Amino acid sequence: MRVLNNIKEVRDQVKKWKYEGFTVGFVPTMGYLHEGHKSLIERAFSENDKVVVSIFVNPMQFGPKEDLSSYPRDLDADSILCGNAGADIIFHPEDKEMYFEDFSTYVDINGLTEELCGKSRPIHFRGVCTVVSKLFNIVPANRAYFGEKDAQQLAVIKRMVRDLNFDIEIIGCPIIREEDGVAKSSRNTYLSESERKAATILSGSLEKAKDILNMGERNCEVIRKVIIDNIAKEKLAKIDYVQVVDGLSMKVVEKVNKSILIAIAVNIGKTRLIDNFTFEV
Ligand code: PAJ
Repeated sequence: MRVLNNIKEVRDQVKKWKYEGFTVGFVPTMGYLHEGHKSLIERAFSENDKVVVSIFVNPMQFGPKEDLSSYPRDLDADSILCGNAGADIIFHPEDKEMYFEDFSTYVDINGLTEELCGKSRPIHFRGVCTVVSKLFNIVPANRAYFGEKDAQQLAVIKRMVRDLNFDIEIIGCPIIREEDGVAKSSRNTYLSESERKAATILSGSLEKAKDILNMGERNCEVIRKVIIDNIAKEKLAKIDYVQVVDGLSMKVVEKVNKSILIAIAVNIGKTRLIDNFTFEV
């Protein structure tokens, strides 16, 4: 497995593979890889001849008060994980390789980026869509793999690919969790011991919502309230949002009469965590 820092090198290699008839799977990440990322790489490995993983902590998707400078990094450990999961190349550019000083072109999606995480992170999805567009141009893969952990991001990327006719198939992969239910996340490393325990309140509350949905509850306000009341029991937790939305438009729904996404964002101390599940009727 090779680590490449240069745009031309990685693009030429992917083009060569495709010319030779190989299929290419691509997994964009910000590094500090865990089992969640690994599941994406393994899926890409099982469905393609070659696999590229990008590791780039994208400054454009972090707000001025967010954790860009403290975002965890460990290229050595990431390289081992990528190698074990079947990756052929890690693309690991420096900031200056990705952004010219006078960079001024952005990909902005209206509507579904303004809901949920877009409310508390107003420039986030513009940064994600811009960097992912660049990455798709740098790594002209057949398929790209994204986690359902970031359900809104997955919906936004699918919309962008549809609207702008990117020649790539987007594949969503299930959320990988710790044994106690907490969704794996690079940001879990920020949590102290007591905060880590408190973090189980996210998946625990979603389980309660799942239970009442399975018992037949269809009123979204009732479902929201069950989640909100449960999170309130945890002193270290502060809700950013708890929403029941349409999984494509991210618009709030009142009655569960089609497939819905239940998405939550909760601050545990200074760390903002997200979780979700999709319920099919
Ligand atoms: P990052 O947070 O590193 O996540 C990379 C990919 O891993 C995303 O598609 C995310 O949904 C997936 N992922 C993270 N935790 C997961 C889990 N527990 N189970 C399954 N998949 C999981 O998301 C980003 O980076 C960036 O926004 C990026 C798309 C790379 C653009 O900069």
